[in-house]
Formats: sequence, C-alpha cells, structure tokens
Amino acid sequence: MTNTQTWIVLKFGGTSVKSLADWRVISKQVTARLEAGHRALIVHSALSGISDALEDLVIAALENEAEPVLAAIRARHLDLASEMELDGAALLDSYFTGLERLSAGISLTGDASPRLRARIMAHGELMATTLGAAWLNKTGLQAHWLDARTALQALPSDPVSSYLNADCAYDTDTALQARLDDTGAPVVITQGFIAGREDGDTAILGRGGSDTSAAYFAAKLNADRLEIWTDVPGFFSADPRLTGSARQIRALSYEEAQELASMGAGVLHPRAIAPVRKAGIAMQVLCTHQPELDGTRIQATPSEDAPRLKAVSVKHGVRLFTLDNDGMWRTSGFLAKAFEPFAQHGVSIDLVSTSETSVTLSLDEDPALTPEVLDRLRSDLEAIARVELIEDCAAVSLVGRGVRALLAQFGPAMEAFAHYPVRLVSQAANDLNLTVVVDGDQGKALCRRLHDQLIQPKPRDVTFGPSWRELQAQAVDTPSASSPVWWRTKRQALLDLCPADSALYVYDLETVKARASAISGLKNLDRGWYAMKANHQPDVIRTAVEAGLGVECVSMAEVHAARAAVPDLGPDRILFTPNFASRAEYAEAIEMGVHLTLDGLHPLRHWSEIFAGAEITLRINPQRPEGHHKHVRTAGPEAKFGLHADELPEAIDLARKAGAIITGLHVHSGSGISDPEHWRRVGLFLTETARDLPDVKILDLGGGLGVDEASGPRRIDTDALDVMLGELKTAYPNYQLWLEPGRFIVAESGVLLARVNQVKHTPDARFIGINTGMNSLIRPALYGARHDIVNLTRLDEPMDWVADIVGPICETADRLGAQRLMPHTEEGDIILIGNGGAYGRVMASTYNLRQPAGEAVI
Ligand code: LLP
Repeated sequence: MTNTQTWIVLKFGGTSVKSLADWRVISKQVTARLEAGHRALIVHSALSGISDALEDLVIAALENEAEPVLAAIRARHLDLASEMELDGAALLDSYFTGLERLSAGISLTGDASPRLRARIMAHGELMATTLGAAWLNKTGLQAHWLDARTALQALPSDPVSSYLNADCAYDTDTALQARLDDTGAPVVITQGFIAGREDGDTAILGRGGSDTSAAYFAAKLNADRLEIWTDVPGFFSADPRLTGSARQIRALSYEEAQELASMGAGVLHPRAIAPVRKAGIAMQVLCTHQPELDGTRIQATPSEDAPRLKAVSVKHGVRLFTLDNDGMWRTSGFLAKAFEPFAQHGVSIDLVSTSETSVTLSLDEDPALTPEVLDRLRSDLEAIARVELIEDCAAVSLVGRGVRALLAQFGPAMEAFAHYPVRLVSQAANDLNLTVVVDGDQGKALCRRLHDQLIQPKPRDVTFGPSWRELQAQAVDTPSASSPVWWRTKRQALLDLCPADSALYVYDLETVKARASAISGLKNLDRGWYAMKANHQPDVIRTAVEAGLGVECVSMAEVHAARAAVPDLGPDRILFTPNFASRAEYAEAIEMGVHLTLDGLHPLRHWSEIFAGAEITLRINPQRPEGHHKHVRTAGPEAKFGLHADELPEAIDLARKAGAIITGLHVHSGSGISDPEHWRRVGLFLTETARDLPDVKILDLGGGLGVDEASGPRRIDTDALDVMLGELKTAYPNYQLWLEPGRFIVAESGVLLARVNQVKHTPDARFIGINTGMNSLIRPALYGARHDIVNLTRLDEPMDWVADIVGPICETADRLGAQRLMPHTEEGDIILIGNGGAYGRVMASTYNLRQPAGEAVI
C-alpha cells in the first residue's frame, strides 16, 4: 500500500516526555498534524535524567552496586506508567530484566565494553517510547511502535565510535517508507539516539543524538517538516541566562542555525542540520511548555534576506597561543610549520589571526587538552617561535549571515571595547560570525552589552520575536526578585488611582524605604546620600531622608526643594555637586554651609574670594567611563565633568591661595553599574590621589548603583558591596566612605500608568497608542532603555499580541516599547510601565504642549 500523505517528524526531548501533562501536549500536537492531512513520526528521548542514570548504572555495576541505581530507574518509569494509568510492569519488565542482566554481566567481568554500554544506554529510549506508544494507543491515537535499530543503520567506523558515536546514512529510504505504509498506522513512534549495526547489535549516536535521529528520519522519509520540541521556544539572540532581553529568533537559514548550534546554543544538536539541509526540509524548533508559540523556523531562505545580526554568543574556557618569530617577516612556510604540531597532537584550532611577525591561535575548551598535551604542544612550538599561552579567555561572537556588511551598524557599540581589552579579532571565512577574544572574566559582560546594544527589534520585525523575559510565564517580575514586584500586589489600588484621561506616575514609598534603608544600613559606609535628580517628588525625598540618607543636589533649586520637602534638613545633610553652575549658586551654597563639590578650575581661578575658609571636595575625572549608555558615562577624556589629572596640582594651589581646605575627593563615573568592583577601583584610585592631600578625610565614591532593568544592568548586590567597602575601610581606615545613589533608591518604586487611546493594526504590525509618551518618559528614546510594559487591566490574560507601545508625540522615537508581548488590548485599558521611579518624571517635558504624567504616592 502506498500512502501519499506527507510526513511530519516530531522530536521530543527528555524534558518533553517526562509527565502525563507532556504527553497530553504531544497527543494534541500529533492530532493537529493528522487533521492537517499529514502522518506523524514521533522520535523521542529517554525520560529526563534517565540517560545520566544509565551512565551511572555502568559505573555502579563496575563497583558491584548496581541495584539502587536500577531500582531508581525502575521506579521512575513505573511512576510515569501509573500516572498514565498503564500496566508499567507488563510493558517494561523485559527491559528491566535486560538491564539487570547487562549490569550483572558488567559486575561479573569488571568490563564495560562499548558494546555493553551502548546496549544499556539504548534502554532509556526503548522504555520511554514503549510507554509513549501504549499511552497514545490507549487514548485512541493509533500509533505503531518502531524499533529505530531496524531503520537507522550505523555506518562502519572505528571500534569505539561504531558503538558509542555512530553516524548513519540518510538518503531517501523508499524501503522504510513502504514498511511504514504497510503498517497503515497514521502515527509512528520511535527512539532517538539509537541505531542498529550491521552485525545486528545496538549503537548509539552520542549525547544529543536524538535531534540527529529525528533529522535522519526526516531525510529518509522526505518529510514535509521536522519539528524539534524542546523546553525553550526556539533559538534566542543570546543566552537568556545572560540577558532577559534575549529575543526569540523567528527565522534562521540552515547555515546560521548550524553556526549557532555549533557555538553551543544548546537548543539543537549541530549534527542534526546537515541531513535536513541536504534534503531541503524545513525545520521548526518549538516549546512543549508553550506550544502556542511559533518558535524558530530554519530553512534555506529565511524570511529576511538582508544581512542581519542574529545573535551574540559567548564561549568560555578558550586558550590563546601566540607564536612570535621576527624571522617570519616575508618568509614562506611559517604558517604551515606553526600548524603542524597542532595536527600532530590532535588539537583542533578554532580562530587564527596573523601579523607580520606573529600568529595567534585560539583553542576551544576540550577535555582532551590535558596539561601534558599542552606541555608537549608548547615545547614543539618553541622549536619554531617564542610562545605565549593565555588560559581562561572568552570568545564573544556576533553571528549572522553577511556579518561583514553590518560593520557600519556596530559603530556605537564598539565603544564597549574601551572596557574590554581585545586579545584577538577574527572574522569567519563563511561570513557568518565575527569573534573577539577577551579575558575570561569579561566575556559575559561584553556579550550582554553588545547584545543589548546591537539586537534592536524593528517595527514589523520578521526576524526577532518577543524577549525571553516577556515569554517567561508572561510575568514581568524581575528575575532576581523572590517575591512578586510590588505593583502586582497593589494592582487594584493602581487601577483605582489611574485617571480616566491622563497619565500618572505612582511611587511606592515602601519600596523607596526598603532601598534607602539598604544603603543607610551598609555597615561599612559612613554616609549615604540620595541623588534627588533621579526623583524630586517631596514624599520620596522625605522617605529617603527618614531612612537615614542625606540629599545630594545638583542645583540650588534642588537644595531648596529638598529643604521644602524636609524642613528640618540641616546643611550638614545636604551635598551640593553642581556642574558648570553660576557663581551665585556656589556663593549661596557656601553661605548656607552645605557640603560642596567642585569639579573644575574656573570657580577657584575666578571667584576665589567666595571660598575663603570653606571646606571643599574635588571631583576627579578618573578617565574610565562606565554606565548603561554613553549619555550617562560621566568620566573619560571627553566628559565635561571633574578635574582631569593634570589640573589637580593647579586646583590644590588655587585652593590653598583661596584659603579653602580640600577635605574630600569624589568620583562619579557613570550610571547603571552592577559590579561592586567598580567602587573598589574608584576607592583605590581616590586613596592614591589623596596621598598628597593631608586634609582629605572623605572619599565620595559617587552613585551609579545598578537596578534590575529589562535590559542591561542588574540590581547591585548590596551585601557584596558592603564586603567590598569593608575591605577598603580595613586597608584605609582613616577615610570616611560615601556613596550617592539615585536610581537604586527610586527606580523600582515607580510605575507610569497610562490609558490606551487607540489600537492600530497594519498587515505586519500592531501599535498600542497610549495617552502619554516621550513627554513623560524619555529614557527609551534617549538611551534605548527597556522598561517592562504590561496591560494592567488584563494582567495574566493570554499574551497573543506582539505590539509596539507608542505615545501621541510627533516623533518616530516616541516609542516606549518595541515588539512587546501583550494580551489583546482595547481602548481605555491601563498600561503600566515599570522601573519608572528614576529619571522619569524629572526628565519630562511639555513637548507638543502635552502635559506629562502627574505624580502620586502609594
Ligand atoms: N552623583 C552624581 C555626581 C551624578 O552625576 C549622578 C547621576 C548620581 C550621583 C546618581 O547616579 P545614579 O545612582 O542615579 O545612577 N538620566 C539617566 C541617568 C543620569 C545620571 C546623571 N548623574 C538615566 O535615566 O539613566
């Protein structure tokens, strides 16, 4: 019988077949394929954790302790069987007995040959598919159980690989097609990971082999599509553990998918691509736990033709060999000689870069690269060149077809390299990636930074889907927060507060208090100051002061506002840090007796008389800018802030002549920094600068403490900060340490509430237009900042829209969020924009004569 229906091959990983709930998803998906007129071949793995348990079984058998491991394996399968209401013992006893015999054999002989290991490992898939087939049949889906060993033939190779790491042929297999036709079953279920040897024995394909099995089956059956069902909804533009703004990639070419898979994306085994690519079969990576999502489609011609950066990845444990040889200049044959020892020692080289007199090569992490192998390699190389080996590097790659053509777009992001010295740059010959190698401890941060700057979704984006954070349970709680964000708990109050026809910032004073107390409670901090430029709402200032902070101000208007908010705020609790302010402001501040920071020579040069007897702090520009965006980096040769090193002697001289006493030194080098080490560097820099300044007793380490943001910085670990401050204090007990955070105190306490004015659908895009925009919150337009956005009216409803959230201002940049996952939304709904407490309302404008959002506290 010939069946003309086309096949869809569906591969499910171990985490997708482990429970009855998973099997319900499988059954639903398979039914949908049948209803669409296809036949379905299910290829799946062992239950999650079972392959590891079977490996443990081999070791335990060698030590004569197999029984507990066997018992655990049995129990795991019987549990699933009973969840499925199947007679597990009847279905699986022969496999259990098989495992007992095999492990007894190993215990007896003390020998775990590749042959026995392959047989044992194969049991995981055999048992799981047996349960799967029985359950599908019980529920009415007519499923034929196929022993994959009779369909996939391992190709002959060396004795170990032919059992444990087999490859199979994957030409169109009409015999298999006919065999499956003969069964008449619409559904076939078979094992991933295993194949048959010519001698009838069992071979396995190596870890991750189930993807490859599925690809072999798809190619052999000339399937219409191969679906890889896994626990994430496709490929992402970065490792979501590194950045929550990693975006789902909707479409990739085979080459790009191969590149990403080979770089360790982990979603799909790289070996699985060649068979489907050769046969021209489209592949789709889907998520068992969010089956409604489209995932990533992989095919020869993806939807977007122009080169586009698709992902930024990082690989750790990279080693660099640099070979220097002055005599290499214009000689031939050096490269051949340099590569030879690598070939001899079986070491594979990843990246290469050459200069007139040197070659740098990178080696990927590889357990086979033992210290002995490296030593031997090194001594062979030393025969031809001076050799330097740098361990523990990280390779950060920009991946995408035609990446070379994109260089011009990378311009602004390249300033990241000011912080991350590059040891090697390499552009792949296939034009699929551009890789830089940096020190190991910098890889993750660089990857995150490049990703968040370079992967910017466009309106009507066909390449990038929602971000990981949006997809996560459709909840927007910050990942590090163990409890729900405050605005979830206070949702009803917020809904009641939101005006019908205008927008409103709402600040949660409990959150302000908690963050301010976290700073004032640092044991090793002498004084904490709230940088009120972040938010000057009077109740917010009062709450920060009541929690023990002073107030840092940048204008006399701020000083007056602080005193209006807290009438008994004495001058000792005000720190004035102006920049290019007028003489009158300095004079008033000195008159008032507040702490004063000077950040240029002009005031001392031209208005020296106002400084007589004053105690001053000097702001120094440490030349090393930091921060979440170039607009908020306040240090470096081009920054307008602070005294540059060569101005310091004159500042000291002028201060002395004016009769001012330099009692403090200050650095603030940027905003949105998450690494406590930054403030150690600042501290050490200031202690060094303070050496020749006997009156200095205060080191003000500035602000800039990061918070959890949808993209980029994470909330600083205040415990780690305290430890670091403690170490500074122990080393330099004579100095008081100060910090002046703004964002950290208020960002997470504030939300912007706005009503939906209009919704617009175009053939490719959706816009949710709200009643305020960049006039209330300019951060997305100015810094590309990403704020969480939810429909508060429909919180927790299914998110089936991808939309841009825009305001009513006549600027294209008036877009508060791009390509956000949202529920069905209607006019009048209340939209909440998170992390709006810092630099929100204070930076608002009346552009277009639209009044910005008002303010309220809760
Ligand atoms: N101290 C000085 C001298 C500052 O210039 C600043 C911020 C701070 C402290 C407080 O920094 P924070 O802890 O808030 O990061 N509008 C930008 C931020 C500009 C920060 C300006 N100076 C944004 O929305 O990200």
